[in-house]
Amino acid sequence: MKIIRSRRQIINWRDHRKKLSVGFVPTMGFLHEGHLDLVRRARQENDFVAVSIFVNPTQFGPHEDFAAYPRNEKRDFAMLRREKVDLVFAPKSPKEIYPNGSDVLVRGRKNLNSVLEGEYRPTHFDGVTTVVLKLFNLIAPNQAYFGEKDYQQLQLIRHMASDLFLPIQVKAVKTRREKTGLAMSSRNSYFSEADRQAASKFYQILKNSKTTGAAKQALRKEGFQIDYLESWRKDLSQPGKGRWLAAVKFKGVRLIDNLKK
Ligand code: PAJ
Repeated sequence: MKIIRSRRQIINWRDHRKKLSVGFVPTMGFLHEGHLDLVRRARQENDFVAVSIFVNPTQFGPHEDFAAYPRNEKRDFAMLRREKVDLVFAPKSPKEIYPNGSDVLVRGRKNLNSVLEGEYRPTHFDGVTTVVLKLFNLIAPNQAYFGEKDYQQLQLIRHMASDLFLPIQVKAVKTRREKTGLAMSSRNSYFSEADRQAASKFYQILKNSKTTGAAKQALRKEGFQIDYLESWRKDLSQPGKGRWLAAVKFKGVRLIDNLKK
């Protein structure tokens, strides 16, 4: 008889009895090459790959783009088939995930929840952690993949996984960019071709500026309205040197980006 006295041991014990490793990629669909990078990493590192497509109502604020968010399930399925994904979970309605109404049940770590994105989208991350935990519980993956594109989301998911002792490894994947440098995003589809070109100045300015002050000035000159542009330690424990994180509005579209600095 085996007696187990620590969380680590119980996690190990379970791992050794799971025949297949499951890699999981949660998404809101309207997939692009950035999403597929996550899927490919999951494919390389696991026996079984699961992807979810669910536009999660609880992470959108009342005046945000939930209804307008781009959707194309057929195209998404075809892309995932080409990547040899084993399972797609695409709930037929929000009721599948929120049978008792859109209750937000998980709160992201407090200090990280209300800064940067959290200051401008106060309910956003609690919606994200709630849906991700629900999806984790349904899929029970060994590993889950998140993009650095949403850097603060990635850190909050990491904290959730460790704070709640989830037996899931959270893996980060680098931001996939257009040739112009613009970070790929489902929301880029809101732009006209010309505006999309102009929007790539966002990353170029972040990359080429020496100080956040200089970057802000240059962005404003190009017509970007800045929500925030701040330098933080890479683990987002506090402001400092390490990573710049920024959100702007351009031609009515809200963009976020971040980079090592
Ligand atoms: P979504 O915006 O569809 O993104 C799904 C995953 O793809 C996230 O981990 C995101 O960081 C990653 N991703 C998006 N664009 C990327 C890019 N250009 N390069 C690399 N990775 C990229 O993020 C969400 O959905 C939702 O909040 C979700 C986690 C699914 C919860 O609803």
